[in-house]
Amino acid sequence: MEKRTFLKTGLFLGIAAATTSFLSACKTAVSSPANAATPPLPPPKLRRTTPFTLPPLGYDSAALEPHIDKMTMEIHHGKHHNAYVTNLNDAVKDTVYAEYELEDIVARISTSDADKKIRNNAGGHWNHTFFWQTIAPGGSDAPSSNLDNAIHAAFETQDKFKEQFSNAAKGVFGSGWAWLCVGKDKKLFITSTPNQDNPLMLNVSKQLGTPILGLDVWEHAYYLKYQNKRPDYITAFYKTINWKVVSDRYEKAIG
Ligand SMILES: [Fe+2]
Repeated sequence: MEKRTFLKTGLFLGIAAATTSFLSACKTAVSSPANAATPPLPPPKLRRTTPFTLPPLGYDSAALEPHIDKMTMEIHHGKHHNAYVTNLNDAVKDTVYAEYELEDIVARISTSDADKKIRNNAGGHWNHTFFWQTIAPGGSDAPSSNLDNAIHAAFETQDKFKEQFSNAAKGVFGSGWAWLCVGKDKKLFITSTPNQDNPLMLNVSKQLGTPILGLDVWEHAYYLKYQNKRPDYITAFYKTINWKVVSDRYEKAIG
């Protein structure tokens, strides 16, 4: 082989190897948890071929009156949640997440600027879908005995649980969420996240867990009725919780 041909071939192979290595690193960055102690995630469910859609509330927008008013529910669901869905469909185009299911996007999203729009809107879609089920009317008005026992084990009393959860919700600076979660040790804990983050975001959240109860404390969730009185909205929230749904989530989370 002539020297010039040899050099060209070598250069080509070098670029190809570097490109392969770079693409491999990109895929790894998406799928690897930030915390090395966390077990690797299962492969994402690929080939989602239909766009994300706004799920129906499943009940009338006035069903939570007087605690959460009809207009707030209509705007919150029909405008805000719908915008997260629309923006998510736009954001995932031509990205590694384009064919991922929502749960896989949430679990794998990173804190990079490149992922920011997907992170905000995937979180917004997941969180609100979860929220509509949490506050749905028609369920039991108290936790199951298993969940009640777990609440007592973690917080001593129902009242102390409410106090800690309310403080977490009040303590969110600006927009965000308060969560009751099941941890890896199967015990309950309370945490909060800013913006549309949630405790399932492996590379993002400061405290990871499986949410069973979540409260949206963005102003769009309460301002029409409660204005600046977030504590009043939090108090009203307890009257809307579908404990049947939350208890079922708890059973599923502890396996
Ligand atoms: Fe919201």
